[in-house]
Amino acid sequence: MELTLSIIKPDGVRRNLVGKIFSQIEESGLRIAATRMIHLSRREAEQFYAVHKERPFYGELVESMTTGPVVVSVLEGANAIARYRDLMGATDPKKAAAGTIRATHAVSIGENTVHGSDAVDTAKHEVGFFFAGTEIVNRAK
Ligand code: CMP
Repeated sequence: MELTLSIIKPDGVRRNLVGKIFSQIEESGLRIAATRMIHLSRREAEQFYAVHKERPFYGELVESMTTGPVVVSVLEGANAIARYRDLMGATDPKKAAAGTIRATHAVSIGENTVHGSDAVDTAKHEVGFFFAGTEIVNRAK
């Protein structure tokens, strides 16, 4: 069983899409093992996206991630990282396959509604970033 981190970004929470996105996640067979709603500080958003520090969109990304609350979740399943990336669709919603979360809901590449970890090491780091010291209460038995 693999764990991955999901974020429903401010544009998704603002447009009341949490339930719909949770349905898409659960219907795909992934399990919501832990979840909570938080409003990221600028410093937290900067730290979380530190790998993109040198990219031209970094400032805008940090800014948009702090405009309102986000829902951070730990998803569990066999190959959860790749499966959630497939379910989200491409980063740019214009390139996302039909039926994916981003094709269905995303506004633009910057406001693309969801984030998911991209590899085993980043998943470990990102789950730890938000859930270190928190019990992952809903693991599959
Ligand atoms: P996410 O999966 O959260 O990882 C980094 C984010 O940067 C990405 O989704 C996009 O929302 C955002 N971003 C903004 N502009 C770009 C861009 N030109 N290329 C890639 N990511 C971008």
